[in-house]
Amino acid sequence: MRRKVTKAIFPVAGLGTRFLPATKSVPKEIMTLVDRPLVQYAIDEARAAGIKEFIFVTSRGKGALEDYFDHSPVLEQELRKKGKDDLLEVLKSTNMDSGAIAYIRQHKALGLGHAVWCARRLIADEPFAVILPDDVIAGEKPCLQQMVEAYAETGGNMVAAMEVAPEKTSSYGVLDVKEDMGSVVSVNGMVEKPKAEDAPSNLAVIGRYILSPSVLRNLNQLKQGAGGEIQLTDAIAADISSDVPVYGYRFEGERFDCGSKSGFLQATVAFALEREELRDDLMNYITTITQGRRAAE
Ligand code: G1P
Repeated sequence: MRRKVTKAIFPVAGLGTRFLPATKSVPKEIMTLVDRPLVQYAIDEARAAGIKEFIFVTSRGKGALEDYFDHSPVLEQELRKKGKDDLLEVLKSTNMDSGAIAYIRQHKALGLGHAVWCARRLIADEPFAVILPDDVIAGEKPCLQQMVEAYAETGGNMVAAMEVAPEKTSSYGVLDVKEDMGSVVSVNGMVEKPKAEDAPSNLAVIGRYILSPSVLRNLNQLKQGAGGEIQLTDAIAADISSDVPVYGYRFEGERFDCGSKSGFLQATVAFALEREELRDDLMNYITTITQGRRAAE
């Protein structure tokens, strides 16, 4: 029997410099798509996939993130007094069972691989998931849940994958595909942020992973990779030579790169249009301003 994936690591130590000045005092992961912080989308996805333990790798200045998952007795009392049961219900999804959430500091910004390695003692010797909250994926079935189901068949290591434009490979980990089986591909190797001319394919890694604990052992070497950082991609790829297979999983759903302003704005519009109470107003507004723009051109 394959061991169930019940732990997930959320690397949230980044400075979020692309969103300055907002991120001077607000952790990027608390920034909202409509009215829910990025991190809430990540947690909901993890829960849907059966995750029971949530490990956040944080850094200085991320206190708001820790507060977010606490109960807020004063606020809850106030809402109860006013009979705002709907809002009390909304708050429920932000609460964690005691002991289900852990925060660990990444003391130095040495890269994604290093951030994941910081959680090694909390993972110990079992498979685990990694979710990068910057990558928001909208879909009927949440991406990690799709992967958990596929992983039940394959085992090994599994990374979410998506075709990107060839000139974009330098922003991603890229798969060297061995066998393409449709939604699942097996992999010969992985390269972090290759230039278009060096990329083994245009199948890019997106921020969802199900990993074998052997990846944490590979990270013990703490070798620097692309950009002088300790790369998760390299530690996963190193498993291939020790016969732990690596699979890419072409997920169903739309991915938004919320680490970029443009992706963040697109996600905001897409999620707002999903909300019945906002849809008509927003559609009218978008139609009006785009028509105005076109007329002015
Ligand atoms: C990280 C990973 C990269 C992956 C990407 C997905 O890069 O290192 O392999 O393709 O996330 O979003 P980052 O975007 O943190 O530079």
